[in-house]
Amino acid sequence: MSDKLIIFDTTLRDGEQSPGASMTRDEKVRIARQLERLKVDVIEAGFAASSNGDFEAVQLVANTIKDSIVCSLARANDRDIARAAEALKGAQRARIHTFIATSPLHMEKKLRMTPDEVFEQAKLSVRFARNLVEDIEFSPEDGYRSDPDFLCRVLEAVIAEGATTINVPDTVGYAVPELYGNFIKSLRERIPNSDKAIWSVHCHNDLGMAVANSLAGVKIGGARQVECTINGLGERAGNCSLEEVVMAVKTRRDYFGLDIGIDTRHILAASRMVSQTTGFVVQPNKAVVGANAFAHASGIHQDGVLKARDTYEIMRAEDVGWSANKIVLGKLSGRNAFKQRLQELGVQLESEAEINAAFTRFKELADRKAEIFDEDILALVSDESVSQEKEQFAFVSLAQHSETGERPHAAVVFTSAGKEVKSESDGNGPVDASLKAIEAHVQSGAEMVLYSVNAISGSTESQGEVTVRLQNSGRVVNGTGSDPDIVVASAKAYLSALNKLQSKADRVAAQG
Ligand code: KIV
Ligand code: ZN
Repeated sequence: MSDKLIIFDTTLRDGEQSPGASMTRDEKVRIARQLERLKVDVIEAGFAASSNGDFEAVQLVANTIKDSIVCSLARANDRDIARAAEALKGAQRARIHTFIATSPLHMEKKLRMTPDEVFEQAKLSVRFARNLVEDIEFSPEDGYRSDPDFLCRVLEAVIAEGATTINVPDTVGYAVPELYGNFIKSLRERIPNSDKAIWSVHCHNDLGMAVANSLAGVKIGGARQVECTINGLGERAGNCSLEEVVMAVKTRRDYFGLDIGIDTRHILAASRMVSQTTGFVVQPNKAVVGANAFAHASGIHQDGVLKARDTYEIMRAEDVGWSANKIVLGKLSGRNAFKQRLQELGVQLESEAEINAAFTRFKELADRKAEIFDEDILALVSDESVSQEKEQFAFVSLAQHSETGERPHAAVVFTSAGKEVKSESDGNGPVDASLKAIEAHVQSGAEMVLYSVNAISGSTESQGEVTVRLQNSGRVVNGTGSDPDIVVASAKAYLSALNKLQSKADRVAAQG
């Protein structure tokens, strides 16, 4: 059995399915580039048949990425599979990942199909896919809650049809490590042609065990591919976290005995990029990438670390991208220093025009804020004004008045389809007044389901990063905005969410 553990990242597909985590095409390509820099083996770029937007995103990622395999999800039917193959045409190495539910509950209640019908469809779909692309992954959705005898029958058949990877999802996060590990082991032992495929684990985190289950699938079950997402992003409680599973296998090589191709020094930049793109904040005590992951507050620990770092540290902070003595940029920093920091952060802007736009914003920010941290730069480049994607709404300026005892008032100037408009409103506070002013003109009718403000770096001099989550006609989108003035950051976040609502997504859900 191979000693290499394949890392399959599904941030752009399963991660993006998380309500509010939807990403634009540009954002997906930016993250895909960072995943390539991280040396992820397989990038699941989306679900091409789910919408035109997803098709284009998969296509763009496939045309851009050179080193990683690019994969598209497809339901087990000819139309989805053909669409995936079409989107992947430009890829150096392409994979189709096709799936159909196999648990009694899903087959009966969701698919309304008999087990024999599911068996046939799985087989024919893999046969069809194999004629289009060589690298085929098959997933029995809700595999862990499926009848093992039926699962063996289906998996043996799809391997015989040419599936090269068999992925066993714990779709609802029901598994516990020992049982999941043994489940994979027994499937591999019982299926006569199991050695013709690479076995893969795909665990959701509903009981907080996605990483533990994945590792058990590897150690006990003999799986050699782990499906995971940056920051554990994903539906409900999320997926197995890439940074945790990778660092566990690397740090405990003595136990797992496996090689991993990931360049871990880019983990932190990837985590920040995904967090800032989606507005899903990373908790400070999150393993590996949380702000406190390498911070030692207690005197005893600090003393120990100063004397010998390994007294309290099992990984080196710099190995996952934390660096203690990086020069902070400021208003005297030039374009080259800025460009180099972008490169170090894994941000590749498309054109000179984009770099110039970002640098102009960097200079504006440096006039207002003495020290520009990496987080500021990432926030700045994720801002829509740097992107070349044409947006419906863009922030221009804002004036607001608030005084104790008086009702706050705001006037916001923004562009709508290129035309400048000014809209005013009162509100409970300056933020409320500003967002109501925008809404008074746009009349989206969207419901706000989340508003959060986060200081990008430590002090009150810091930029505020605002996330606004809007819901409209069953769609949930996140908008983010950053600025040293949190009222402005809020207006930008609101406009960014409205832009995402505008990009009409007629999407089909992957588990639908
Ligand atoms: O969780 C799941 O079952 C999935 C499949 C589509 C692989 O994401
Ligand atoms: Zn999943």
